[in-house]
Amino acid sequence: MKMQLTDDEKRDFYRDGFVVLKDVIPQDLVARAQVRYKSAQSGEDLTHADEFTDLINRSPLAPIMREAMGEFDPPSGTRHIVRVHGQKPAEHFAALGYRDKDLPYYGADLHMDGEAVFQTPQEPAEGTPEEIYERYIATGRKGGPERSAENIGINFAPLFHDPALTNSLGGFTAFLFVCLSDQSMHGGGQTNVLRGGHHAMERFFRWQYRENGCVGPEGPGWPRLNHDAPNRCGYMHLPDSIYEEFTDENSACTPDGRRWPEPTPVFMTPGDATIAMYHIPHGGSRNENGHSARKSPIFALVNKKRQPNKVMVGNSDHPDRAWDGSFLNFEEGNNPWERSKFALCNMYHEWDGMQAIVAEERMRAGDSNEVFEL
Ligand SMILES: [Fe+2]
Repeated sequence: MKMQLTDDEKRDFYRDGFVVLKDVIPQDLVARAQVRYKSAQSGEDLTHADEFTDLINRSPLAPIMREAMGEFDPPSGTRHIVRVHGQKPAEHFAALGYRDKDLPYYGADLHMDGEAVFQTPQEPAEGTPEEIYERYIATGRKGGPERSAENIGINFAPLFHDPALTNSLGGFTAFLFVCLSDQSMHGGGQTNVLRGGHHAMERFFRWQYRENGCVGPEGPGWPRLNHDAPNRCGYMHLPDSIYEEFTDENSACTPDGRRWPEPTPVFMTPGDATIAMYHIPHGGSRNENGHSARKSPIFALVNKKRQPNKVMVGNSDHPDRAWDGSFLNFEEGNNPWERSKFALCNMYHEWDGMQAIVAEERMRAGDSNEVFEL
């Protein structure tokens, strides 16, 4: 049984921000989870079903992650992202503010987790940017129009994770994407990643923090909305500087001539799993060409040293808040959003088993491996 990543896999993981492990999940665990999907009643909540959490807790992924990352709570929940097959490019406006059919790369929507999203206007929005923003953030779970940490998006992520409105991402340590369906073809509904984008995001967070201490959308260099999108209310899932850094004359465009970064589809078959950095821009895509529904439970792990007194479920992209967005209690002197900012600006701090490789690779590239102090 595989118990840890090899040094070569760690080097790939350092460079790319993700690593695919073929056949890492024992076949009996895969079969049991696939059967659980098949027997699910329509609308049944499978968040906490152990057929899925066992894919981590009873598989080699648990020791592999303990070695590479460090201690974490065994997940008791997961997010299920299922995409039916035969999806076609559609007319509706996607979150980016462009028509789904006009977005390249099977509509892959590269984003960071922890961003609150609201209802995408399906007609071009009217009014000033301020009016469009106010209407947009009034369509979340709470329905309130205010720009506050109490405002919760339709995906349960808060507009701001902290009451001081300085952190709109939160963040965690690692993704685990477990594959339960054939996602080995282009346009198979798989997860896509921006290869190497984690390094650029860490640099960007450090720059944002130095500017004024605010990180994520609505911090420096990262407006939340793009009013030049066709619906005038497109979500800036990534900052402009990242879109620019990862596009060139070979990039595919939308009809307005805007270039989009080419994502890397993560090809997997049942039993494979992908480990990815929180920091890597990633996104789902249309399942146009798959032969079956795309099925992948997604786990979000946090190194135990971030919040030793909190038990993480493993399904949340906003672990500094409760799943429904309500506030958690932290002991005196423990500011969770500052700890999260530290992790956003020091992405390998929570990868205990990566320290030697990171130091080597950074030295080889002439990059500093100093801690970025807040
Ligand atoms: Fe995501």
